[in-house]
Amino acid sequence: MVAPPRLVLDGWYLAAFSDEVGRTLLQRWICNRPVVFYRLSDGSVNALEDRCPHRRYPLSLGRLDGDVIECNYHGYRIADDGVCVGVAEQPDQPKASTVRFPLVERDGLVWIWPGDPAKADPADIPDTWWLSDPGWTHVQGSVGLKARQILLVENLLDLTHETFLHPGSIGNAAVAATPIDVTSDTRSVSFTRHMIGIEAPPFYQKSMGLTSPIDRWQDGDFYAPGVFVLNIRLAPTGTEEPDGFHMKVLYGMTPATDTTTHDFFCLGRDYKVEDEELSAFQLQQQLAVMKEDIDALEVQELMVATDPGMIESSIRSDVAGVRGRRLLDKMAKREAAAEAAAAPARPQRPAAAAAPAGVAAP
Ligand code: FES
Ligand SMILES: [Fe+2]
Repeated sequence: MVAPPRLVLDGWYLAAFSDEVGRTLLQRWICNRPVVFYRLSDGSVNALEDRCPHRRYPLSLGRLDGDVIECNYHGYRIADDGVCVGVAEQPDQPKASTVRFPLVERDGLVWIWPGDPAKADPADIPDTWWLSDPGWTHVQGSVGLKARQILLVENLLDLTHETFLHPGSIGNAAVAATPIDVTSDTRSVSFTRHMIGIEAPPFYQKSMGLTSPIDRWQDGDFYAPGVFVLNIRLAPTGTEEPDGFHMKVLYGMTPATDTTTHDFFCLGRDYKVEDEELSAFQLQQQLAVMKEDIDALEVQELMVATDPGMIESSIRSDVAGVRGRRLLDKMAKREAAAEAAAAPARPQRPAAAAAPAGVAAP
């Protein structure tokens, strides 16, 4: 069995859409932990580890009383900071608490920081201005993926797969045939692929009324550990920027567990923003394309998990994916090292030779 890589915790992950979080307790697993999301009476979002500090019963199965969650098992009452403020119907005041996670709500998205709260800086959240810009509109949704997060990261960083996996919609031969330019730094990996004078794939013919030949730009930015934004520009060949049709697709690749992932998306456009029929078509197409990816990644997960030692082959179109993988690996190792350094030193066991006579060394 090939174990999935250690998840990166110090980073902002997309946790929910704003309209999913209200006065009903919502449970969602994030990076191997159950989290309960809800809105406080002032309208702000809140998130606690979804385990009661008494016997770990899910708080999300309890009820909201003002801003306090009352556990539905034995009545522990947990305030919005995670601290127990009493036990219903009983005089006890236990000293107990559960974890509260840093959250940011912006442009209709709720972001969570599952790692060290001292490192959580909202300035590190990728800019999503186009989700609230009146010149743009978007459709959004999410699907569950039964595969490790890294497979989704690599899927999005190598879009040559569009040629083979999505030939009926967004892919054609030009994608795989056009090389990418890649740049990266300590937190991100970016690529550009500019296809000039190519045939228009079916999705763009219908979506924009484009006829061949077209120029198609496909520029992707991976913000480690779990966000990818694809910037798309399409135009009749030879049209100068800024003319043309622009789209952006944000993916929130949020690990639920080591081997399951939330695949959130927001697909935006800057043309025909009032056209609801077009929005419905784009949503249906996006979900169909994502289903092709999900099906592929879930069978890939099985193949990866059951292969003990294959050495993978790579080609030049893998450059962005490999850099993304290395970046996550580096971040995870850094967190593991910091965790080990912070762990209390274990007392040394006595050497076997030093064991008193008659006492077996362990
Ligand atoms: S488990 Fe919550 S009160 Fe007992
Ligand atoms: Fe895909």
